[in-house]
Amino acid sequence: MDQAAVDRAKEHFAKVVEEQMRRVDQMRSAQSWTDFSRLDKIVVGIVGGDGIGPYICAHARTVLEFLLGEEVAQGKVELRTIEGLTIENRVRTMKAIPEDVLAEIKRCHVVLKGPTTTPKKGDPWPNIESANVAMRRELDLFANVRPVRVPEQNIDWMFFRENTEGAYILGSKGVNVNDDLAFDFCVATTQGCERIIRLAFEHAKKNGIDKVSVVTKANVIKTTDGKFLSTAEEVSKDYPGIKWDDWFIDIMTAKLIDPYRRSDFKVMVMPNLYGDILTDEAAQIQGGVGTAGSANIGMRYAMFEAIHGSAPRMVDEGRAQYADPSSIIKAAAMLLNHIGKVEKARQLEMALDVCCLHERHFKMTGRSDGATGEQFAGYIMETLTDPDLERKWKSYQAC
Ligand code: IPM
Ligand code: MG
Repeated sequence: MDQAAVDRAKEHFAKVVEEQMRRVDQMRSAQSWTDFSRLDKIVVGIVGGDGIGPYICAHARTVLEFLLGEEVAQGKVELRTIEGLTIENRVRTMKAIPEDVLAEIKRCHVVLKGPTTTPKKGDPWPNIESANVAMRRELDLFANVRPVRVPEQNIDWMFFRENTEGAYILGSKGVNVNDDLAFDFCVATTQGCERIIRLAFEHAKKNGIDKVSVVTKANVIKTTDGKFLSTAEEVSKDYPGIKWDDWFIDIMTAKLIDPYRRSDFKVMVMPNLYGDILTDEAAQIQGGVGTAGSANIGMRYAMFEAIHGSAPRMVDEGRAQYADPSSIIKAAAMLLNHIGKVEKARQLEMALDVCCLHERHFKMTGRSDGATGEQFAGYIMETLTDPDLERKWKSYQAC
């Protein structure tokens, strides 16, 4: 046996364990949620990202300016474009997020982020860490909240995906012990599981939902998923009015396409990787990943993003102006809700429903036979000014 290889692996493992112990200490120290109502000025960073990102973010910015015009004029909200989170810059600095960009982001309270290219083995880029994953970790955005709704099928799902642990947190810190043996790590902490599960139960409680479904693979991944599940059992004791059930990820992916069962699910909470997979499946049921928005919430910061990729091919082929900005605009609605602009968020959500699900006056095809992102944003703003919006939206809900 190559003892030197074993020793190197042990050393590596000791290092990651120490790192994670420090993270647990940080989580244990008291933190409080940002109270947006007490801030003199809320700074919203807009980070374009790669490929079509800057294009769709510009449209989301126009919509936000339209809705927040008064607050911006009064200096209560600032919309601040942050440049530089591009794959070229990240490769140049060999950092998932270049330091100056991260510093800029940390000067904001919340961020709206376009898609960023995630290099994988075999790509022309060096295999650096995903900017998404790094941002979630650096800003401690532990909750990935992803709603999926298909009203005509009675689907109203809210996914609470753990966002800072699981298979992701050491995704770039696996170890090749030798040419034949590779390890990755999966991490769960009591604090990390508890905070996401509690958020899911709180959401259920606030919205009068009487059940939370916990998704793991605790029959096989016994230690970390086992901790997730036993933490759920503990947390549930604080919510006597809410039932909970547990599902394994494999059967859950099947149940989401079971027309007889799927509308029974309302609030679902799960470790990172299962949430990644399940929310793409769910978004596809809603109409495609391009139709979903995603909130990454931490106690101090929050980041809102489109869940589709950066589509570099659209830019290369000169089609970026036809990219569909609905996912990032949906994320902008979640951002508005998070910073306390609840009514504006509701208006924007209604306008998105009317424009994307019901009227569909503009078809987005991603090509010149469809509408441009600018036309779509214009359509959203026109719909927002419609004094009849609420009545119209309600009439669609009824049918
Ligand atoms: C998502 C994405 C990311 C993830 C990628 C881009 C790293 O798929 O936000 O779901 O896996 O979390
Ligand atoms: Mg994903």
